[in-house]
Amino acid sequence: MCGVFGYVGQRRDVGAAIVAALKTLEYRGYDSWGLAVATADGLLVDKDVGRINGQVRVFPEATIGLGHTRWATHGRVTRQNAHPHTDCHRRIAVVHNGIIENHAVLKDQLLQRGHQFRSETDSEVVAHLVEEQLAAHRPLAESVALVFRLLEGHNAIVVMDAVSGKLAAAKRTTPLIIGQGGQGSTIASDAFALQGHADRLIHLEDGQLAVLAANSANILDRATLLPSQPVSVAVAVDRDDAGLGSYPDFLTKEVAEQPTVLRRLVASSGDDVEGLSTEMRRANRVILTGCGSAGNAALAGAYMLNSVCAMESSFVPASEFSHRAGRRLAGSLVIALSQSGETLDVLEAMDEARRRGARLAAVVNAPNSSLERRVDARVMLGAGVEQCVLATKSYSAMIAALMLTAFDLAGKFAAGAAAVCGAAQAIEALLEPDARGHIGEIGSRLAARDHLFVIGRGVHYPSALEAALKIKEVSYIHAEGFAAGELKHGVIALVEPGTPCLVFAPDDETRTDMVSSASELRSRGGHIIGVGSTPDPVFDEFIPTLPVGIASPIVEAIPGQLLGYGAALARGHDPDRPRNLAKSVTVK
Ligand code: F6R
Repeated sequence: MCGVFGYVGQRRDVGAAIVAALKTLEYRGYDSWGLAVATADGLLVDKDVGRINGQVRVFPEATIGLGHTRWATHGRVTRQNAHPHTDCHRRIAVVHNGIIENHAVLKDQLLQRGHQFRSETDSEVVAHLVEEQLAAHRPLAESVALVFRLLEGHNAIVVMDAVSGKLAAAKRTTPLIIGQGGQGSTIASDAFALQGHADRLIHLEDGQLAVLAANSANILDRATLLPSQPVSVAVAVDRDDAGLGSYPDFLTKEVAEQPTVLRRLVASSGDDVEGLSTEMRRANRVILTGCGSAGNAALAGAYMLNSVCAMESSFVPASEFSHRAGRRLAGSLVIALSQSGETLDVLEAMDEARRRGARLAAVVNAPNSSLERRVDARVMLGAGVEQCVLATKSYSAMIAALMLTAFDLAGKFAAGAAAVCGAAQAIEALLEPDARGHIGEIGSRLAARDHLFVIGRGVHYPSALEAALKIKEVSYIHAEGFAAGELKHGVIALVEPGTPCLVFAPDDETRTDMVSSASELRSRGGHIIGVGSTPDPVFDEFIPTLPVGIASPIVEAIPGQLLGYGAALARGHDPDRPRNLAKSVTVK
């Protein structure tokens, strides 16, 4: 979480450039924001709580600066706690992403040495620690390297020194990317923010330190401070992806992109899928992992592997991986699913899996992400930038990727490709104005309810989990997804007259049992919203979907996305930036 952007170069309008970059980074954290620029009159720091969009500021000329969008971890959402933080003499400014686990001890020591703190954050210790090193006449690079060594946890810091006119940065796990080309040197938490500023990108490694000046970007070994050979890659983000175009919000845009994304995946993923199938064939055990929606997609993948090619696999949530996966994983393949490729729990799970002897694979959207760079095989989703905090197109693409792999393992890639294209067509039907309006209208009526239950069975059980997740995170309605068979074992006690119940009832082997479960809910007063290809008298409302067989979970992603959207609008919430959330969860 937290967006970071820094610039040093020839441009004199750094303040405006930082604000523009922070707007693109806002999905990483949007409770407050701030920037610092070094002007002829000293450091100018500007901060505010809330969203940066719409705020108009005029900044004095400057050629170096850095900015931050915050997702609070330590310290409330206040102006003082927004980054950047400065040292006692306002010579340096610091932005930080992560959690400094030993900040309390470091802060006590700094207070005893007479430093004045202005915020409640863990981050501010960095400013005062660097201040001490600079006061001892150490160069900026050495100062930042020494200070970074003191910090415990997964952190990324960027330090601006107004005196030397340089930025220095270091990281552990949490990403930092350096942009080369353009009119100077740039650094950001996210490649997306470097669009238009750079032609090539360097992904800073954990053992490195970056020092950026107006005419240079040097990557050093953090331990020795000797030059380190960075690997640079061309900017991969498609600029056409970035804007809203004629869409009212990114959620609508990204939901609408799903048919295109799925067809593109079918056309482009053949080699990736073959590589993943080869790894899976060689493995004596396959474990899928991920968080949130990606975890739901992983669970759907486990069902699909079982049903399409009789491959046994298990799903372990990434945050539980070290506790639940086997101690010895030699011969195992661990496949992580992730949109951002930067989720800390996922990266930690993969590092643990490697230590336990597993081979690693990923189904990932963000190119050159930390996850992609860790694994032995990968399927790239190519879904384009996902800017809405809710996972939508990445979720359906993840299921499609695993489905293609399952078909490939069964020696039937072409059949898998046809099934995914069928799903793309069925999604188009759901996005037709009438169908979409019908689902949105049901969603807007849900806005008046406090609770909602979603059930599915077999491969549709993950669809129930995902629909509930989408609805709750964007509308703040309490929505629970569960396996239909579990209904009678406790949850049905919560059903009251009028309680909305979303029921996935496709025409397959789960249908009869699903209709029975719907009847049980209705007998207790539940208001049944059926999703499937065939209506039934037990449904109070019906969301019709085209029959697509095993590809149903891809199509079943859409009702939850549109119901959540309808409820969110009716409740007056921002569909792209739900409260308390941020894209790319880079803290524990
Ligand atoms: C839900 C959502 C989250 C993410 C989760 C994993 O809409 O967006 O649950 O799916 O934080 O993120 P990635 O896929 O980036 O690892």
